[in-house]
Amino acid sequence: MQFEVFTLLPEVFPSYIDTSIIKRARERGLITVRVHNIRDYTHDKHHMTDDTPYGGGGGMVMKPEPIFEAIESVLGVDASFDDSLEEREASAQDVKIPIILLTPQGRVFNQSIAQELSQHDRIVLICGRYEGFDERIREHLVTDEISIGDYVLTGGELPALIMIDSISRLQPDVLGDPTGAQDDSHAMGLLEYPHYTRPPEFRGWKIPEVLLSGAHAKIDKWRREQALLRTYKKRPDMLEKADLSKEDKKFLEKLKNEEEREVRETSDEE
Ligand code: ADE
Repeated sequence: MQFEVFTLLPEVFPSYIDTSIIKRARERGLITVRVHNIRDYTHDKHHMTDDTPYGGGGGMVMKPEPIFEAIESVLGVDASFDDSLEEREASAQDVKIPIILLTPQGRVFNQSIAQELSQHDRIVLICGRYEGFDERIREHLVTDEISIGDYVLTGGELPALIMIDSISRLQPDVLGDPTGAQDDSHAMGLLEYPHYTRPPEFRGWKIPEVLLSGAHAKIDKWRREQALLRTYKKRPDMLEKADLSKEDKKFLEKLKNEEEREVRETSDEE
């Protein structure tokens, strides 16, 4: 997997990508992160990458020329396309490289988008600064827009690092444990079950007995139920999309009934 990052702040990236799992993945050649300074693709004396908006108003807007030139130069192709959505899709398919604009206006990033993007060999991430981008970048260059959540940051650099991190750990061999990413929260549509390590008793708090039993089927069942319980309590919205077995549904039904009974009992007491 090769990440091509376009930014006005390349200095933001080295410390994170030179650390821990991402560093090892890079050293082992499993991923490559190339960071390109958009300013290197300007031709005027002041290396301008932004300008005032037509029509007035506050803030500066990122100019189209350096971004188009930077991406076309790095990819070695004419990446731009004309109007219609069909053409836009055709162009994206032709180049086969997602050209992603990081913006609070994009689709909200999640594990399934990370999985979808992890299937590509190469991804372009464009980080914005200032008030916004010249709209022609959206209309004629990018194939996707991604937001990391409904809040506004000062730029796309942190969102790009977040995407690099979550997509990298899905690449084969990046995690030491080959099944490492399978049980993650969100990977199976549920929050992950609780973990415990030594000591078995800490300040009087014991770990659940079943984890010491060595009975793998029992432990698997307990973990599945804990994942369901957590998701039910913390993120019930996720249960609507989760892939649930008959037993899962039965367990959730039981939880719901217990909860309803408790509500009835407390209102009876009042
Ligand atoms: N740039 C600024 N805010 C952002 C967000 N929430 N997601 C992606 N890019 C951004």
